[in-house]
Amino acid sequence: MSRVVIVSNRVPVPAGRKAQAGGLAVALRDAVKPGSLWFGWSGRTAAQTSENASVVEQGGVQYATIDLSHDDYRNFYVGFANGVLWPLLHFRLGLIEFRREHLEGYRAVNEMFAKVLAKLLEPDDVVWVHDYHLIPLADELRKLGAENRMGFFLHIPFVPASVFAALPQGGELLNDFCAYDVIGFQTVEHQRDFLDSVRIILRHQVDSNGEIAAPRSTIRCIVTPIGIDSREFQHVAEHSARSKTGLRLKDSLVGRKLMIGADRLDYSKGLPNRFEAFHRLLTRFPEHRMNVSFLQIAAPSREEVSEYAALRPVLNRLAGDINARHGAFDWVPLRYMSQGFARSTLAGFYRIARVGVVTPLRDGMNLVAHEYIAAQDRTDPGVLVLSRFAGASSYFDDALVVNPYDPDEIAEAMHEALLMGANERRRRHTRLFERLLSLTVESYCTHFLEALLDCTKSRAAA
Ligand code: G6P
Repeated sequence: MSRVVIVSNRVPVPAGRKAQAGGLAVALRDAVKPGSLWFGWSGRTAAQTSENASVVEQGGVQYATIDLSHDDYRNFYVGFANGVLWPLLHFRLGLIEFRREHLEGYRAVNEMFAKVLAKLLEPDDVVWVHDYHLIPLADELRKLGAENRMGFFLHIPFVPASVFAALPQGGELLNDFCAYDVIGFQTVEHQRDFLDSVRIILRHQVDSNGEIAAPRSTIRCIVTPIGIDSREFQHVAEHSARSKTGLRLKDSLVGRKLMIGADRLDYSKGLPNRFEAFHRLLTRFPEHRMNVSFLQIAAPSREEVSEYAALRPVLNRLAGDINARHGAFDWVPLRYMSQGFARSTLAGFYRIARVGVVTPLRDGMNLVAHEYIAAQDRTDPGVLVLSRFAGASSYFDDALVVNPYDPDEIAEAMHEALLMGANERRRRHTRLFERLLSLTVESYCTHFLEALLDCTKSRAAA
């Protein structure tokens, strides 16, 4: 049996586990089996980017990480990965700040990752690379002579070819994808948009099974949605809702219904529109005044990227406006907190909330949607309001699916959710939960790794 080598920018080295809402590292942590190696960035900066990994072992998994120099961090992580690729692949061309030195830094860090990883690789390892930070990694490893089977999974959306075309040197990046044997996507739409770009920009032949005929090899593109360990999350939620913190939240509601949102503080999450929607809910449907509290948790994220820093005061102001306008001396309508919480605490909060509000403008999947469904009490479940532009909406059509660009539509869905009777809530939740159970971490990994293990080494010698 080949060893699985997971590579991702973030590695949740056991000692360093931090509170996170959803996210790749949390999801993959459930998936990594003993015997695997997980390689990536330590999350630390240092005077120099490390030339060797530091390795710790826990539960039979080896975690190998490197530090990044301050310059590499700035160019690779802040400048290109999160200053260009993130907004591009979330359809936000106007937010891109492309600089050639950032792209060079991105490539240099991928080259460095490859050099350090190559020293740890065995010939029979299968290498599974995750997310947009590391698109060129396989090509860099191949330049060093690695012939391993290599797969790539994109956790975030892909864009139509006409949008992707805006990326300077985008053709080279598309070519980098072609050094992998298998490429995985969260939804059929992301896969289709990627294949269109390959066909239109690179002019490679693409067949209806998602195979790309590149000059030196055939690349298989598959859809394999990520999931969570739903049963486990359900248990955590049950327990956490009865914990001291859960009870404090319940008591603080004094019988009011709770709506909840929990996101990274990211412009892709549509938070200003969500706040506007809440304002409209209270204005257009005044029966909810004094009867609902909306708890929005926004964990600080990527604060060195200017667009993220700019969002914080905007949300502070909007939250202040809503409470000043609608609040009463004994009711704070919007409880807005820009801090992270442990996933287990959030699980209890989701269970207590009558409405889960997940309205990103774009999202690869959005595991908060999964978590909210998993956390519910089946006999008295809450309702999920879900953006049609979250990957999760491809799988959860029994949520109240909204266009996140229209605050009135979100407000109407919040209204419907708050008034929904128990029978309808149970009917929807039963179907959502069934669907959730089919989206397991195991099926995600098995499907991807089977495709990767299946692929014949068709790559011709350079
Ligand atoms: C998203 C990305 C992940 C990333 C996570 C947290 O889920 O798809 O790759 O790790 O956000 O962002 P950060 O920049 O803190 O790693």
